[in-house]
Amino acid sequence: MNKRVAFITGASSGIGYAAALAFARQGVHVAAVARRAERLAALEQAVKALPPPHGDLLPVAADVRDTAAMQEAVRQTVARFGRLDVLVANAGLGHRGSVVEADWDDLETLLQTNINGVLHAVRAAVPAMRQTGGGHIIIISSVSHNLVSPYAAVYAASKAFVSSLARSLRLELEADHIRVTDFLVGRTATEFNENRLGEGKRTGQGVPTMSADRVAAAIVRVVATNQKTVTLRFFDRLVIWGNILAPGIMGRLARRQYR
Ligand SMILES: NC(=O)c1ccc[n+]([C@@H]2O[C@H](COP(=O)([O-])OP(=O)(O)OC[C@H]3O[C@@H](n4cnc5c(N)ncnc54)[C@H](OP(=O)(O)O)[C@@H]3O)[C@@H](O)[C@H]2O)c1
Repeated sequence: MNKRVAFITGASSGIGYAAALAFARQGVHVAAVARRAERLAALEQAVKALPPPHGDLLPVAADVRDTAAMQEAVRQTVARFGRLDVLVANAGLGHRGSVVEADWDDLETLLQTNINGVLHAVRAAVPAMRQTGGGHIIIISSVSHNLVSPYAAVYAASKAFVSSLARSLRLELEADHIRVTDFLVGRTATEFNENRLGEGKRTGQGVPTMSADRVAAAIVRVVATNQKTVTLRFFDRLVIWGNILAPGIMGRLARRQYR
Protein backbone atom coordinates (compact mmCIF):
# COMPACT_ATOMS: atom_id res chain seq x y z
CA MET A 1 0.00 0.00 0.00
CA ASN A 2 3.06 2.23 -0.08
CA LYS A 3 2.43 5.63 -1.73
CA ARG A 4 -1.32 5.13 -1.44
CA VAL A 5 -3.43 7.90 0.07
CA ALA A 6 -6.30 7.47 2.54
CA PHE A 7 -8.84 10.17 3.39
CA ILE A 8 -10.41 9.53 6.79
CA THR A 9 -13.30 11.52 8.26
CA GLY A 10 -13.69 11.62 12.02
CA ALA A 11 -9.96 11.08 12.55
CA SER A 12 -9.64 13.14 15.74
CA SER A 13 -10.66 10.27 18.04
CA GLY A 14 -11.71 6.65 18.34
CA ILE A 15 -11.85 4.46 15.25
CA GLY A 16 -10.82 7.20 12.80
CA TYR A 17 -7.77 8.16 14.88
CA ALA A 18 -6.69 4.52 15.20
CA ALA A 19 -7.26 3.94 11.47
CA ALA A 20 -5.12 6.98 10.58
CA LEU A 21 -2.24 5.60 12.66
CA ALA A 22 -2.71 2.09 11.25
CA PHE A 23 -2.62 3.30 7.63
CA ALA A 24 0.41 5.54 8.31
CA ARG A 25 2.22 2.56 9.86
CA GLN A 26 1.73 0.73 6.54
CA GLY A 27 3.35 3.62 4.62
CA VAL A 28 0.02 5.08 3.46
CA HIS A 29 -0.29 8.88 3.42
CA VAL A 30 -3.34 10.05 5.32
CA ALA A 31 -5.61 13.09 5.12
CA ALA A 32 -7.19 13.26 8.58
CA VAL A 33 -10.46 15.18 8.70
CA ALA A 34 -12.37 16.35 11.80
CA ARG A 35 -13.40 19.60 13.48
CA ARG A 36 -11.01 19.56 16.48
CA ALA A 37 -7.75 20.89 15.06
CA GLU A 38 -5.83 20.34 18.32
CA ARG A 39 -6.68 16.61 18.25
CA LEU A 40 -5.49 16.40 14.64
CA ALA A 41 -2.25 18.16 15.63
CA ALA A 42 -1.71 15.48 18.32
CA LEU A 43 -2.39 12.77 15.71
CA GLU A 44 0.17 14.38 13.40
CA GLN A 45 2.76 14.19 16.19
CA ALA A 46 1.87 10.55 16.85
CA VAL A 47 2.38 9.75 13.15
CA LYS A 48 5.73 11.56 13.11
CA ALA A 49 6.80 9.43 16.09
CA LEU A 50 6.13 6.14 14.24
CA PRO A 51 9.20 4.10 13.32
CA PRO A 52 10.20 4.83 9.70
CA PRO A 53 9.23 4.24 7.03
CA HIS A 54 5.72 5.56 7.58
CA GLY A 55 3.16 7.62 5.69
CA ASP A 56 2.72 11.37 6.19
CA LEU A 57 -0.32 12.96 7.74
CA LEU A 58 -2.23 15.98 6.46
CA PRO A 59 -4.53 17.36 9.15
CA VAL A 60 -7.66 18.99 7.71
CA ALA A 61 -9.92 20.80 10.18
CA ALA A 62 -13.32 20.56 8.50
CA ASP A 63 -16.95 19.75 9.17
CA VAL A 64 -18.38 16.82 7.19
CA ARG A 65 -21.79 18.55 7.17
CA ASP A 66 -20.36 21.23 4.88
CA THR A 67 -20.25 20.11 1.25
CA ALA A 68 -17.83 22.89 0.19
CA ALA A 69 -15.50 22.01 3.08
CA MET A 70 -15.39 18.37 1.96
CA GLN A 71 -14.60 19.40 -1.63
CA GLU A 72 -11.83 21.66 -0.31
CA ALA A 73 -10.47 18.89 1.94
CA VAL A 74 -10.17 16.56 -1.07
CA ARG A 75 -8.57 19.35 -3.12
CA GLN A 76 -5.95 19.85 -0.37
CA THR A 77 -5.34 16.10 -0.20
CA VAL A 78 -4.68 15.77 -3.93
CA ALA A 79 -2.57 18.96 -3.90
CA ARG A 80 -0.38 17.49 -1.12
CA PHE A 81 -0.18 13.81 -2.06
CA GLY A 82 -1.14 13.75 -5.76
CA ARG A 83 -3.96 11.21 -5.44
CA LEU A 84 -6.72 9.75 -3.26
CA ASP A 85 -7.11 5.96 -3.11
CA VAL A 86 -9.13 5.16 0.00
CA LEU A 87 -12.03 6.97 1.64
CA VAL A 88 -12.98 5.91 5.16
CA ALA A 89 -16.34 7.64 5.72
CA ASN A 90 -16.27 7.30 9.48
CA ALA A 91 -17.35 10.56 11.18
CA GLY A 92 -20.53 9.90 13.13
CA LEU A 93 -22.55 10.55 16.24
CA GLY A 94 -25.02 8.58 18.33
CA HIS A 95 -28.35 9.58 19.86
CA ARG A 96 -30.67 8.26 22.55
CA GLY A 97 -34.19 9.40 23.15
CA SER A 98 -37.72 9.27 21.95
CA VAL A 99 -38.32 10.20 18.32
CA VAL A 100 -41.18 12.50 19.24
CA GLU A 101 -39.80 14.27 22.33
CA ALA A 102 -36.16 14.51 21.24
CA ASP A 103 -34.73 17.94 20.66
CA TRP A 104 -34.95 18.59 16.91
CA ASP A 105 -31.52 20.27 16.84
CA ASP A 106 -29.98 17.01 18.12
CA LEU A 107 -31.77 14.91 15.50
CA GLU A 108 -30.83 17.33 12.74
CA THR A 109 -27.17 17.31 13.85
CA LEU A 110 -27.18 13.52 13.81
CA LEU A 111 -28.79 13.27 10.37
CA GLN A 112 -26.52 15.91 8.88
CA THR A 113 -23.41 14.23 10.29
CA ASN A 114 -24.23 10.54 9.77
CA ILE A 115 -26.03 10.89 6.42
CA ASN A 116 -25.12 14.19 4.74
CA GLY A 117 -21.54 13.87 5.99
CA VAL A 118 -21.09 10.49 4.28
CA LEU A 119 -22.67 11.74 1.05
CA HIS A 120 -20.50 14.88 0.99
CA ALA A 121 -17.34 12.83 1.54
CA VAL A 122 -18.26 10.28 -1.15
CA ARG A 123 -19.24 12.95 -3.69
CA ALA A 124 -15.98 14.84 -3.07
CA ALA A 125 -13.71 11.77 -3.12
CA VAL A 126 -15.01 9.84 -6.15
CA PRO A 127 -13.86 12.34 -8.86
CA ALA A 128 -10.34 12.24 -7.36
CA MET A 129 -10.38 8.42 -7.37
CA ARG A 130 -11.54 8.37 -10.99
CA GLN A 131 -8.53 10.48 -11.98
CA THR A 132 -6.16 7.69 -10.94
CA GLY A 133 -8.26 4.80 -12.18
CA GLY A 134 -10.03 3.57 -9.05
CA GLY A 135 -10.14 3.33 -5.29
CA HIS A 136 -11.92 1.94 -2.27
CA ILE A 137 -14.69 3.49 -0.19
CA ILE A 138 -15.21 2.08 3.30
CA ILE A 139 -18.49 3.22 4.82
CA ILE A 140 -18.41 2.92 8.60
CA SER A 141 -21.88 1.71 9.49
CA SER A 142 -22.98 -0.27 12.53
CA VAL A 143 -24.48 -3.55 13.65
CA SER A 144 -27.39 -1.21 14.48
CA HIS A 145 -28.12 -0.75 10.77
CA ASN A 146 -30.92 -3.35 10.87
CA LEU A 147 -31.85 -3.02 14.55
CA VAL A 148 -35.34 -2.58 15.79
CA SER A 149 -34.12 -0.01 18.24
CA PRO A 150 -36.67 1.99 20.22
CA TYR A 151 -35.07 5.08 21.84
CA ALA A 152 -32.09 4.74 19.50
CA ALA A 153 -34.26 4.77 16.39
CA VAL A 154 -32.82 7.77 14.58
CA TYR A 155 -29.24 6.57 14.98
CA ALA A 156 -30.17 3.07 13.77
CA ALA A 157 -32.05 4.55 10.82
CA SER A 158 -29.07 6.74 9.90
CA LYS A 159 -26.90 3.62 9.76
CA ALA A 160 -29.57 1.82 7.70
CA PHE A 161 -29.25 4.71 5.25
CA VAL A 162 -25.48 4.44 4.87
CA SER A 163 -25.52 0.63 4.67
CA SER A 164 -28.12 0.81 1.92
CA LEU A 165 -26.09 3.51 0.21
CA ALA A 166 -22.97 1.32 0.34
CA ARG A 167 -24.73 -1.61 -1.35
CA SER A 168 -26.05 0.47 -4.25
CA LEU A 169 -22.92 2.57 -4.61
CA ARG A 170 -20.88 -0.61 -4.96
CA LEU A 171 -22.62 -1.38 -8.26
CA GLU A 172 -22.81 2.26 -9.33
CA LEU A 173 -19.03 2.65 -9.06
CA GLU A 174 -17.99 -0.79 -10.30
CA ALA A 175 -17.17 0.48 -13.79
CA ASP A 176 -14.87 3.09 -12.22
CA HIS A 177 -12.93 0.31 -10.41
CA ILE A 178 -13.99 1.82 -7.10
CA ARG A 179 -14.82 -0.79 -4.47
CA VAL A 180 -17.32 -0.09 -1.74
CA THR A 181 -17.43 -1.89 1.61
CA ASP A 182 -20.23 -1.68 4.16
CA PHE A 183 -18.29 -1.96 7.42
CA LEU A 184 -20.61 -2.94 10.27
CA VAL A 185 -18.95 -1.98 13.53
CA GLY A 186 -20.03 -3.39 16.89
CA ARG A 187 -19.48 -1.88 20.34
CA THR A 188 -16.03 -0.28 20.43
CA ALA A 189 -14.24 1.53 23.26
CA THR A 190 -14.12 5.15 22.01
CA GLU A 191 -15.59 8.52 22.98
CA PHE A 192 -18.77 7.58 21.13
CA ASN A 193 -20.83 7.04 24.31
CA GLU A 194 -19.68 10.34 25.86
CA ASN A 195 -20.42 12.27 22.68
CA ARG A 196 -23.83 10.70 22.17
CA LEU A 197 -26.58 13.27 21.75
CA GLY A 198 -29.96 13.26 23.45
CA GLU A 199 -31.12 11.99 26.78
CA GLY A 200 -28.53 10.56 29.10
CA LYS A 201 -25.62 8.39 28.21
CA ARG A 202 -27.45 5.09 28.70
CA THR A 203 -25.69 2.27 26.97
CA GLY A 204 -26.74 -1.34 26.40
CA GLN A 205 -25.52 -3.66 29.17
CA GLY A 206 -23.75 -6.96 28.60
CA VAL A 207 -22.45 -6.04 25.15
CA PRO A 208 -18.79 -7.01 24.64
CA THR A 209 -16.51 -4.14 23.71
CA MET A 210 -13.58 -4.26 21.32
CA SER A 211 -10.69 -1.84 20.92
CA ALA A 212 -10.50 0.87 18.27
CA ASP A 213 -7.14 -0.63 17.24
CA ARG A 214 -8.83 -3.92 16.39
CA VAL A 215 -11.37 -2.13 14.19
CA ALA A 216 -8.63 -0.02 12.60
CA ALA A 217 -6.54 -3.09 11.73
CA ALA A 218 -9.57 -4.61 10.01
CA ILE A 219 -10.21 -1.40 8.06
CA VAL A 220 -6.62 -1.49 6.76
CA ARG A 221 -6.94 -5.20 5.90
CA VAL A 222 -10.16 -4.75 3.94
CA VAL A 223 -8.43 -2.47 1.42
CA ALA A 224 -6.59 -5.47 -0.01
CA THR A 225 -9.92 -7.24 -0.59
CA ASN A 226 -13.19 -6.64 -2.37
CA GLN A 227 -15.44 -7.47 0.60
CA LYS A 228 -19.01 -6.25 0.28
CA THR A 229 -19.75 -6.34 4.01
CA VAL A 230 -17.54 -6.68 7.08
CA THR A 231 -18.49 -7.76 10.60
CA LEU A 232 -15.71 -8.50 13.03
CA ARG A 233 -17.16 -10.68 15.77
CA PHE A 234 -19.49 -13.62 16.23
CA PHE A 235 -21.47 -11.50 18.71
CA ASP A 236 -22.05 -8.80 16.07
CA ARG A 237 -23.28 -11.37 13.54
CA LEU A 238 -25.57 -12.76 16.23
CA VAL A 239 -27.11 -9.30 16.75
CA ILE A 240 -27.61 -8.80 13.01
CA TRP A 241 -29.16 -12.24 12.50
CA GLY A 242 -31.23 -11.84 15.65
CA ASN A 243 -32.82 -8.79 14.08
CA ILE A 244 -33.51 -10.65 10.84
CA LEU A 245 -34.99 -13.75 12.49
CA ALA A 246 -36.56 -12.35 15.68
CA PRO A 247 -36.93 -8.56 15.35
CA GLY A 248 -39.75 -8.41 17.91
CA ILE A 249 -37.68 -10.02 20.67
CA MET A 250 -34.59 -7.96 19.82
CA GLY A 251 -36.65 -4.77 19.76
CA ARG A 252 -38.15 -5.46 23.20
CA LEU A 253 -34.68 -6.18 24.62
CA ALA A 254 -33.42 -2.88 23.18
CA ARG A 255 -36.43 -0.98 24.53
CA ARG A 256 -35.79 -2.31 28.04
CA GLN A 257 -32.16 -1.12 27.90
CA TYR A 258 -32.58 2.26 26.27
CA ARG A 259 -35.83 3.66 27.67
N1 LIG B 1 -17.95 3.11 19.21
C1 LIG B 1 -18.91 2.27 18.90
O1 LIG B 1 -19.36 1.45 19.75
C2 LIG B 1 -19.47 2.23 17.50
C3 LIG B 1 -20.32 1.17 17.15
C4 LIG B 1 -20.85 1.13 15.86
C5 LIG B 1 -20.52 2.11 14.94
N2 LIG B 1 -19.69 3.13 15.31
C6 LIG B 1 -19.40 4.16 14.30
O2 LIG B 1 -18.02 4.41 14.23
C7 LIG B 1 -17.80 5.74 13.76
C8 LIG B 1 -16.70 6.40 14.60
O3 LIG B 1 -17.15 6.54 15.92
P1 LIG B 1 -16.19 6.35 17.19
O4 LIG B 1 -16.70 5.19 17.94
O5 LIG B 1 -14.76 6.36 16.78
O6 LIG B 1 -16.59 7.64 18.03
P2 LIG B 1 -15.78 8.97 18.45
O7 LIG B 1 -14.54 8.61 19.19
O8 LIG B 1 -16.77 9.85 19.13
O9 LIG B 1 -15.35 9.60 17.05
C9 LIG B 1 -16.24 10.31 16.22
C10 LIG B 1 -15.44 11.12 15.23
O10 LIG B 1 -16.37 11.78 14.35
C11 LIG B 1 -15.96 13.14 14.23
N3 LIG B 1 -17.07 14.01 13.90
C12 LIG B 1 -18.27 14.12 14.53
N4 LIG B 1 -19.00 15.08 13.94
C13 LIG B 1 -18.24 15.58 12.93
C14 LIG B 1 -18.44 16.61 11.98
N5 LIG B 1 -19.59 17.32 11.92
N6 LIG B 1 -17.46 16.87 11.08
C15 LIG B 1 -16.30 16.16 11.13
N7 LIG B 1 -16.05 15.18 12.00
C16 LIG B 1 -17.02 14.91 12.90
C17 LIG B 1 -15.34 13.49 15.59
O11 LIG B 1 -14.42 14.56 15.43
P3 LIG B 1 -14.64 16.10 15.85
O12 LIG B 1 -15.57 16.14 17.03
O13 LIG B 1 -13.25 16.57 16.14
O14 LIG B 1 -15.21 16.75 14.63
C18 LIG B 1 -14.60 12.20 15.89
O15 LIG B 1 -13.33 12.23 15.28
C19 LIG B 1 -19.16 6.44 13.82
O16 LIG B 1 -19.69 6.53 12.51
C20 LIG B 1 -20.01 5.51 14.65
O17 LIG B 1 -21.38 5.59 14.32
C21 LIG B 1 -19.16 3.21 16.56
